[in-house]
Amino acid sequence: MTQNLVLAIETSCDETAAAVVADGKNVLSSVVSSQVDIHARYGGVVPEVASRAHVDLIAPVIAQALVEAGIEHSDVDLVAATRGPGLIGSLLVGVSAAKSLALVWKKPFIGVNHLEAHLYSCFLEEPDLELPLVVLLVSGGHTMLIAMDDHLSYKILGQTLDDAAGEAYDKVARYLGLGYPGGPIIDQLAVSGKPEIEFPRPMLHEGYNFSFSGLKTSVINYVRKNPETPIEDIATSFQEAVVDVLVTKAKKAAIEINAKGLCIGGGVAANSRLREAVLDACLQEGLHSFVPSRSYCTDNAAMVAAAAWRRYSQDGPSSLYTGADPNLRLPE
Ligand code: KG4
Ligand code: ZN
Repeated sequence: MTQNLVLAIETSCDETAAAVVADGKNVLSSVVSSQVDIHARYGGVVPEVASRAHVDLIAPVIAQALVEAGIEHSDVDLVAATRGPGLIGSLLVGVSAAKSLALVWKKPFIGVNHLEAHLYSCFLEEPDLELPLVVLLVSGGHTMLIAMDDHLSYKILGQTLDDAAGEAYDKVARYLGLGYPGGPIIDQLAVSGKPEIEFPRPMLHEGYNFSFSGLKTSVINYVRKNPETPIEDIATSFQEAVVDVLVTKAKKAAIEINAKGLCIGGGVAANSRLREAVLDACLQEGLHSFVPSRSYCTDNAAMVAAAAWRRYSQDGPSSLYTGADPNLRLPE
């Protein structure tokens, strides 16, 4: 394709992000403005507050992405934005900004699926990853095991039946009074704890679906009955249970479909223990593994640009009538 300089925008939840990426892999800039401090006092993302913050931040974040990339807006070949899934008010800010810029600059626009963007974070740093691949997508809203036989072609092998892995981290942290978002805080605490408590491993040997709500409840019940237990031991034991289930199933799936490799993506893929366990499991099985840099696991716009570039090459631009879709699914 001739369009190789993508300006991408990501506003599906509580990060306002913009990036400029060349050829779907060379990141010229990736700006992420987090609203974590704004939402922390409420213990979670407040959708109305998030959309207002996106409105305030979107123009400066886009301007910074262009400046850091050292390009003029006339150099941009394609304008992309996440169009779903996510919070409708937040998504609308990014989609409207991208469509307005595309219209004024007379450039094509493309709407991107946020889940596809998380999958393509793997190809940002390793564009030549061999297929078929199994990707474990673990974020605040999703927990999915996906088989990729070809680019842009997915088969969902399993997903969570209740809470997403990141949601379980956030809810356990909230119960323990640790703050928001819980994932990075538990990750940090777990470094100095002992995995002494044998929390349940839900659905460990039952197919590829997941369930984390019962595990979260067992942690809460345990803490109620044993208030003296060091918080670090709770964090480590909870994390061991989550990682055990995720890695056991991902490894089994990769072997079963004869995948060349196993990748992870999404905010929980920034977790130190999960990253280490995936690398170990792949080493044991002789599988190629790929773990993206932490900054490309949590929400960012560089991954949106990588997915946009692939989609545009295959399907061309989206219409300017394309809207945001809070319930958008991964195309199978
Ligand atoms: O992908 P993401 O930034 O946003 C969504 O699309 O949901 O993921 C956010 C989730 C939150 O639940 C957060 O607690 C979790 O990712 N997370 C982590 C870590 N960093 C972020 N969970 C465990 N360990 C981490 N280091
Ligand atoms: Zn995400």
